[in-house]
Formats: sequence, structure tokens, C-alpha cells
Amino acid sequence: MALVVISLVLGLCVGAFSAPAPDTPKQIDLLMPHVQPKVPDTYLCHGMKLNSSATYITGFIPNANMNIAHHMLLYGCTSPGMKKPVWNCGEMASDSSMFDTAPTCASGAKILYAWAMDAPSLSLPKDVAFAVGGDTDIKYLVLQVHYKNVTTFLPPQNGNDTSGLNLITQKNKLPRRAGVYLMGTGGRIKPKSTVFMETACKFDSNLEIHPFAFRTHTHTLGRVVSGYRIRDGKWTEIGRMNPQKPQMFYNVTTPNLTVKPGDILAARCTMLNDRDTTVNIGATQNDEMCNFYIMYYVDGKTIMDDNYCFTSGPPNWSWENFGQGDLALEDMPDTVSLPPGSSEPLEEGKDDVARDDESLESILDNLQPRELEELYEELAEEGKDNDLNGYYYGGY
Ligand SMILES: *[C@@H]1O[C@H](CO)[C@@H](O)[C@H](O)[C@H]1NC(C)=O
Ligand SMILES: *[C@@H]1O[C@H](CO)[C@@H](O)[C@H](O)[C@H]1NC(C)=O
Ligand SMILES: *[C@@H]1O[C@H](CO)[C@@H](O)[C@H](O)[C@H]1NC(C)=O
Ligand SMILES: *[C@@H]1O[C@H](CO)[C@@H](O)[C@H](O)[C@H]1NC(C)=O
Ligand SMILES: *[C@@H]1O[C@H](CO)[C@@H](O)[C@H](O)[C@H]1NC(C)=O
Ligand SMILES: *[C@@H]1O[C@H](CO)[C@@H](O)[C@H](O)[C@H]1NC(C)=O
Repeated sequence: MALVVISLVLGLCVGAFSAPAPDTPKQIDLLMPHVQPKVPDTYLCHGMKLNSSATYITGFIPNANMNIAHHMLLYGCTSPGMKKPVWNCGEMASDSSMFDTAPTCASGAKILYAWAMDAPSLSLPKDVAFAVGGDTDIKYLVLQVHYKNVTTFLPPQNGNDTSGLNLITQKNKLPRRAGVYLMGTGGRIKPKSTVFMETACKFDSNLEIHPFAFRTHTHTLGRVVSGYRIRDGKWTEIGRMNPQKPQMFYNVTTPNLTVKPGDILAARCTMLNDRDTTVNIGATQNDEMCNFYIMYYVDGKTIMDDNYCFTSGPPNWSWENFGQGDLALEDMPDTVSLPPGSSEPLEEGKDDVARDDESLESILDNLQPRELEELYEELAEEGKDNDLNGYYYGGY
């Protein structure tokens, strides 16, 4: 009996005074399980169930074959689109009979990481981690890979792919937690026009957030997407990007920016529709999207519950209709619709799309990336693709 008590006391003492077990980072691989997509532009998803205790993700190492994977997205989901190892997924997904089709997440979708060829990888700031699993609302991780060119999966090569991510994780929590805030619109884009799609929200969380990265997302009509913090009537740029460039997370324009209660967040997508038809915001590749993502951290472990700022978009809603405070539109920067690298801001209204100047350059400038790609492929077959070098960019 005495022996038991003594060893119990000793055990307690050792437990109380010894240092906590060192938390060695652990690499967790989330890789496609030797898939063989046979149809060009296939989007495949692969899910992983998380544990009942939380995991802290501090880094992402892309592990992709650039000749095969066009882009990869990592989602956190409350429930996955499907509980099979692999399914056909994503808003641009076309039917691919080999795989069942389902959304990426069935509920609680959050983008945690994005990779695209030739783009630099994102590192989280010091002491920052995404918390997943455990009692968070992220119960699954889902990897989405866009297979643009599937030549290597067809005969004679019959290859397979294991593109994916190595996640750097640990079990002990860190002082700062990462989250993603999503801004976007509904609405429609008139034919032959440049249209602004706008959203704005008063920041009414009681937290102070530190945005450190941003991501833009549209389909082919987006020309520039920009996001701002408005504090006491002063506009500060969070990020601005041409969404036809790789849709990764990029460093924010203004380092050390914070957003606190009372600030206003605003975003605009400048869309150029040179088609003869109206284009709606929607989920298929014939529709459009307007999204601005803000990746942020907070000190402590509480991230925002309300992570969205959406409006109905044009023609019903614009910044003029904002009613929760003063957007100070008269002090709006004149770069809101300026594509990075350009000197001409895009203006809203009807466009003179059919120009008199029929030079190759002006024709190419007015083509959608997908049309440009088709033209490129046609000319390449005839061996006449040299004229197009420098214009082609494999878009989304
Ligand atoms: C879940 O727990 C198992 C067993 O401890 C571990 O091998 C695995 O890496 C954990 N997964 C995650 C995502 O943390
Ligand atoms: C796909 O990749 C192969 C090489 O792997 C190349 O020969 C072919 O032209 C590519 N197809 C397209 C449509 O880009
Ligand atoms: C995938 O490709 C590798 C190397 O080419 C091959 O060894 C393996 O058997 C293939 N696996 C499947 C499931 O097709
Ligand atoms: C605009 O608002 C009207 C009336 O509220 C509604 O019927 C219409 O569907 C809305 N249009 C869009 C594109 O949201
Ligand atoms: C992004 O910011 C981080 C931290 O400030 C810095 O280390 C990194 O080099 C930046 N990346 C780019 C591409 O500018
Ligand atoms: C941002 O904050 C860091 C750490 O507090 C500091 O070292 C850095 O100089 C600041 N950068 C700017 C641009 O204010």
C-alpha cells in the first residue's frame, strides 16, 4: 500500500516538474492515390478524415508534377463532397464518366492553401498555424487537383499521378491562429461591357485580425480584383491582382495592416464581358465568380465565426448602396480597377469591343484566355504558333 502511495506521489511529482514532451513537427502527406484522369480539364478531389484531437498546420510543401497538375487547392471541410478516395469535383468540373461527381465539400468549405505552377509557395508567419480536426469545424482535408493535359495518362504511357501536399504539422498549439475571410458577390454581367462587381461589410467581429495574404478568384472574364480596408474614411489596399495570373495566396500589399471593429472591408471585381450574352455568377464553367480571400491571423485561439461578406452584386447592388457606415467613395483610390502592370484603369460601361484596328495584337488582347488557348492550339497544329508567343497563358 505504502509503495503504491509513494510511487503515485513520485509519479505526480515527475509529471508536474518534468518539461513537456518536445513537440517534433510531423509531416503528413496528402497525395492523390495514383489517379489516371483520362479527360482534359479534369478536377479531382481526394479527402482525409482528421483526428478527434486537433492538428496544427504550420506549413505546406507542394509536391506536384508541373507537367501534369495545373493547380492544387487545399480545402478544410466540415463534411467532404464524397466519402470515396477520389471524386470528380470543382466548379469548373465537366463530366468525367470514370469518377463520380460531387462538390469539393458538402459543408463548411474553407480554402487553406493554393498552389499553381511557377508560383512561389506561401509560408505562414511565425507562431501562426491553422487548427484542424479536434473540436474545430474542419473535420476533413480535401485536396483538389486540376489536370489540364492528360496525355501522360493515356496509352502508350498509361501513367498515374500522386501530386499533392506535404503538410508540416504539430500537436501543440501555437500562440496565433490562422483563418480565411471570404468576400464575394452574386449578380450578372451584361454583354459587351465592363462591369464592376462590388461588396462591402462593416467589420463587426470583436477581434482584431492581421491580414497577411490574399487570393483572387474569377473565371475567364475577371481582369482585376482588389480589396481594401476603410478606416475613418481612409482606403488602404489589402491586395490587388489580375485573376488570370495563378490564383495563389500572395502577400498583402500593406504589411502589418490590421482590421478591427468599426473598420469597413470592401472588394471589387472588374469584369470584361465581350460575349454577346449575359453571364451570371454561378457554379459552372459557363458562369462567373467574383471572390477576394483574406488570409489572416489572430493572437490567441479564437478565429471569426462569421467569415463571409457577400452582396447580390450588379445590377442590384454596388458600393453606392452601402448602408452600414461611410465608405468615403470620394476618397477611393484611382487604382481600384487598375490591373497590376497596366497604366489604364478599366472603366465601367459599354465597350467598343469591335475595334477598327484589326492588328493581331488588338485581336489577341480582346480574346478570352480560353479562346486564346483554342486559337493557339489550332495554329500550333498548322505550325504557325510563333506569332502568339508571349500571349498564351494557361488560365483557369
Ligand atoms: C491522426 O492520428 C494518427 C495516430 O496518432 C497519426 O498517425 C496521424 O498522423 C494523425 N493525423 C493527423 C491529420 O493529425
Ligand atoms: C500535352 O502534353 C504533351 C506532352 O506531355 C504535349 O505533347 C501535348 O502537346 C500537350 N497537349 C496540349 C493540348 O497542350
Ligand atoms: C503508377 O505508376 C508507377 C510508375 O509508373 C507504377 O509502378 C505503378 O504500378 C502505377 N500504379 C498504378 C496503380 O497504376
Ligand atoms: C434584383 O432585385 C430584384 C428585385 O428585388 C430581383 O427580382 C432580381 O432577381 C435581382 N436581380 C439580381 C441579378 O440579383
Ligand atoms: C512574403 O512575406 C514574407 C514575410 O513578410 C516574406 O518572408 C516573403 O519573402 C514574402 N514573399 C514574397 C513573394 O514577397
Ligand atoms: C511590421 O512589423 C514588424 C514586426 O513588428 C516590423 O519589424 C516591421 O518593420 C513592420 N513593417 C512595416 C512596413 O511597418
